[in-house]
Amino acid sequence: MEDLKVPERVIPAAQIHFPEEDIVAMQSEFADILRTGQLVLGERTKIFEREFADYLGADKALAVNSGTSALEIAMRCIGVEGKNVIVPANTFYATAGAVLHAGGNLKFGDIESETFGLDSENASRLIDENTAAIVVVHIGGTPSRDLMKLRQLCDERGIKLIEDSAHAHGSSVNGQKVGTIGDVGTFSFFPTKVVTSGEGGMVVAKDPRVIEEGRIYRDQGKASGGRNFHTHQGYAWRMSEIHALLGISQLRRLDEFIDHRKMIARIYDDGLNGLPDLSPAVIPAGSESNYYKYVVNLRPSINRELLKAKMKELGVSLSGEVYADGLHSQPVFQNKFEGGENGFPNADHFCANHICLPVSAVVSEEDAKYVIEKLYEFCGYSKTR
Ligand SMILES: Cc1ncc(COP(=O)(O)O)c(C=O)c1O
Repeated sequence: MEDLKVPERVIPAAQIHFPEEDIVAMQSEFADILRTGQLVLGERTKIFEREFADYLGADKALAVNSGTSALEIAMRCIGVEGKNVIVPANTFYATAGAVLHAGGNLKFGDIESETFGLDSENASRLIDENTAAIVVVHIGGTPSRDLMKLRQLCDERGIKLIEDSAHAHGSSVNGQKVGTIGDVGTFSFFPTKVVTSGEGGMVVAKDPRVIEEGRIYRDQGKASGGRNFHTHQGYAWRMSEIHALLGISQLRRLDEFIDHRKMIARIYDDGLNGLPDLSPAVIPAGSESNYYKYVVNLRPSINRELLKAKMKELGVSLSGEVYADGLHSQPVFQNKFEGGENGFPNADHFCANHICLPVSAVVSEEDAKYVIEKLYEFCGYSKTR
């Protein structure tokens, strides 16, 4: 019989965490929701919106049922129909999908090689008189290096800046939370994220009219909540009270979760010091990452698939790159985008040559040291814990 080796530890790439006391507290609140019978657009959704806006230092926030619908609200309220929207080639499908769903034209820009966000010089070359918006994505929770340059560029050219902050709850630049620097900021509470509401999303905006119009889109295009009088081609994008309950509970843990993630990141920073083939992604001065992901650049001499397979045998999951395939190479977008006259060399290089080390609110100090030890073994060095 084959000798099956059981790994010393099993460390998932990501894991959402509900502390036991929060589960207990939510049980009675859940019962309260059921007793009121108000399962959507009730008090908890309002509380979640208020607390999220306060956390970011934003005026108002709008809770919706996903980060994807938050993005489409951003596109629709800016009015991208028939207009061009510049999106980084390296992001999740939904960033670009929202542009097409809202009737906009996609232009993909290449990324920079520091934080893997949209490169501002590349983006500036893609701007034309029909450009309505630029989307910047904070990959892995690290504020995009060119965020402020893109802000300036958009101001100069009269273009809206959207921050897809699906990864970046609590990340900041010079003390200002990301999501509040763009004209519109969008967030996701999908269960892989730093905090979750099960499914859910949030929109914040500089112009309060975006929030008001977003509110109309969220509820079937009804101009006033209750009455069936439809002014917009809206959707069923409401957040349920049960999702809001989860979201509030998690939001109140956000800073604590980020502190834990930072502690794990320091162990990785320290451990990777001695491994020249693996280098941690740079966090620009003045920026704070929430460490949604701990991104590591690999020298092309490292075989990523072999490394992932070996680490998996040892109980360490390195799944979940951000991302392994650029959007320009996704079948769904073929013949549906402009840009990339000279290809997307930075996005292609990054997609093929990075991994993400496990990080979550429950990865322990010992887990992180184990990950480092196993990476040393793979690279042929020795490191004692
Ligand atoms: C960068 C980015 N944008 C948008 C989304 C969409 O969010 P959701 O899954 O909540 O619809 C995600 C989700 O993973 C994402 O990673």
